[in-house]
Amino acid sequence: RTFATPSFDTSNPRIPPYLKLLKNYEQVKEVLGRATPLTLAEKILYSHLDNVEESLLTNTEGGRNIRGNANLKLNPDRVNMQDASAQMALLQFMTCNLPTTAIPASIHCDHLIVGERGAKEDLEAGIKTNQEVFNFLESAGKKYGIDFWPPGAGIIHQSVLENYAAPGQMMLGTDSHSPNAGGLCTVTIGVGGADAVEALVGAPWELKAPRVLGVELKGKLDGWATPKDIILALAGQLTVRGGTGFIIEYFGSGVETLSCTGMATVTNMGAEVGATTSIFPFNDAHVRYLEATHRHDVAAEAKKYSDIVGLRADAGAKYDEVITIDLSSLEPHINGPFTPDLSTALSKFKETVREQEWPENLSAGLIGSCTNSSYEDMTRVESMVKEAMEAGLKPASSFYITPGSDQIRETLARDGPLETFKAAGGTVLSNACGPCIGQWKRQDDVKKGESNAILTSYNRNFKGRNDGNPGTMNFLASPEIVTAMAFAGTTTFNPMTDSIKTPSGKDFRFTPPSGLEIPSQPFASARPEFRAVSSTPDASVQVAVAPTSERLALLEPFEPFPSSDLSGLRVLVKVTGKCTTDTISAAGPWLKYKGHLPNISTNTLNTATNAETGEVNAAYDMDGSKHTIPELGQRWKEANQPWLVVAEHNYGEGSAREHAALQPRYLGARIVLTKSFARIHETNLKKQGVVPLTFANEADYDKIGACDEVATEGLYDMLKNGGKGEVVLRVKKSKTGEEVLIKTKHQVSEDQAKFILAGSALNMLSQR
Ligand code: F3S
Repeated sequence: RTFATPSFDTSNPRIPPYLKLLKNYEQVKEVLGRATPLTLAEKILYSHLDNVEESLLTNTEGGRNIRGNANLKLNPDRVNMQDASAQMALLQFMTCNLPTTAIPASIHCDHLIVGERGAKEDLEAGIKTNQEVFNFLESAGKKYGIDFWPPGAGIIHQSVLENYAAPGQMMLGTDSHSPNAGGLCTVTIGVGGADAVEALVGAPWELKAPRVLGVELKGKLDGWATPKDIILALAGQLTVRGGTGFIIEYFGSGVETLSCTGMATVTNMGAEVGATTSIFPFNDAHVRYLEATHRHDVAAEAKKYSDIVGLRADAGAKYDEVITIDLSSLEPHINGPFTPDLSTALSKFKETVREQEWPENLSAGLIGSCTNSSYEDMTRVESMVKEAMEAGLKPASSFYITPGSDQIRETLARDGPLETFKAAGGTVLSNACGPCIGQWKRQDDVKKGESNAILTSYNRNFKGRNDGNPGTMNFLASPEIVTAMAFAGTTTFNPMTDSIKTPSGKDFRFTPPSGLEIPSQPFASARPEFRAVSSTPDASVQVAVAPTSERLALLEPFEPFPSSDLSGLRVLVKVTGKCTTDTISAAGPWLKYKGHLPNISTNTLNTATNAETGEVNAAYDMDGSKHTIPELGQRWKEANQPWLVVAEHNYGEGSAREHAALQPRYLGARIVLTKSFARIHETNLKKQGVVPLTFANEADYDKIGACDEVATEGLYDMLKNGGKGEVVLRVKKSKTGEEVLIKTKHQVSEDQAKFILAGSALNMLSQR
């Protein structure tokens, strides 16, 4: 078929390569049949295929059964990296000896700033503490031509939404909440550094074709309900594993009633249900947001592109599952503690708090972050704060505000909300992750281990995540609900029905919040020192890594897989319960070692629970001696004793943190055997040369224990055969010498088998 080639702007780096994508899309239509209706997710993914025919027709019954079967080889348009994960990604990229990245990329310094006293002081302290790492990242940016966003410029997902996201585009981000940009009609996937390096060197990036979960939105949000409540309620329904293997695609008339930033809040937290990513169709709210963020050019080109391909699902497109949410009757929800899928409707929260004996006193309310610091969020909160202050009230709990970027911060400063928050006694933190990622130095109130409740508008609430205190229960809610409860000082307050006593003894009741989707004039610009530094690649720049550094260490390649099956492995520890990437590689104070593999490996699995003793961070050697888990890992590394970990469901849930794969590999892990894996982590393991296996029969979890000796049967053949074949584990019980056979399952693709054989994906890329 011929089509009139539209004149897309190919010289403007802000515009996705629409012409190239359109050509690919036309080929997709040829291969699948022009009448085949596609979901939006499929349109964007498939238009980024490296080889359309090979990807869509291999193992898919002639293209009829692509989802869940095809291994898509994709060419993303760009890569975004945050400072904690960028260190390892860049250290890996450096080993490939290339002069520049194959596609545009950016580095965002956001995770390393500790929130304590307020933006200015915290930022100065953060820069001082992390200068060495920021210098490394900046010098790497200059050398390879990667945009560098200095500390204080903003949180990766907010900066990406404001500057790089463009409808129809595909991006990778080295952070699990990268799908935030799906709120602007992009397919953006959270990955580990090794995946990012693949894209950075121009190698196609592989993804098992996801299934598509359609979420139909009907009606219109009203009163206290917000976009956050869509995803809080959905997380309760789907659970933390319900989105695994799916892209969540929103559709329906309710979509048209949401703001672009509201949609980003929803897609951001798709990570909490394990989804590959989430996406909204292109609509007028996207155009309004692009124009307000000074991107009229992107909006105009996106409209042209959408007029041809339709950046929405085709009529008749089939979803693998459909969930319907009526926005008109949606209640505010509060999720937690300790897991983002424990969802309670606001109207039931008071009784649940009392039934569960959760703390009634609210020690802190924290709003903002990459998830909820939009103009709409903040102006709605401002309407509440003003009203409460006029009644003589101040927040009864500590109240913290984290702007997502300097652009939004400056806009809020220009238009008033920031001053309102400060006048109410709120602490405005720096434009960085801070308390969301354990970088929160709490001033006063709570002692380590002491049970206490906080409410946040963040996205994740695993134990110890915010302040390193396992007694802190983080309940996730919209910024509006967080603020209302912070004024009341209690978790049992329901702003829809309850009043607060004012100093003059009157009953004060909040009216439902109101705000503006975008500012009435375009967003203010970030201050000059907080704008991106873009450079052309400069080979003469020396990337700063001191050999004596405790923060950064150049990487040594891992050894290749032996030319035989594995034998003589021992079980380092058998883990029970939730084992997230935070459990495997803790954040908080450990973030400072992200660029130093030996140093950060000393935290490996240090909050995992030993299934056999119930102890946290305890493992026993074959001689019966007790160690911490990382100590035993190090001991076995030094003794050349390869090992495996045994665990339960959704192992590696949470972030895209590749350290959770790199560290065990560095210490000598060859296999991780579980009841199931979280998607990103499973991929990360394979990229680092560790074999992820699941029990064919879950009950076999009970047949294997610490120090048991394990040999593989069929593993080497499976890898040689490009991922085809079964793997059985021959387990010799350490205590009795008895032998048992454990059948396993795996999801190793042809390319992944090659990575494992080479020792790691990076070994393979360097060979290329
Ligand atoms: Fe940062 Fe928390 Fe978002 S760590 S990127 S603010 S999820």
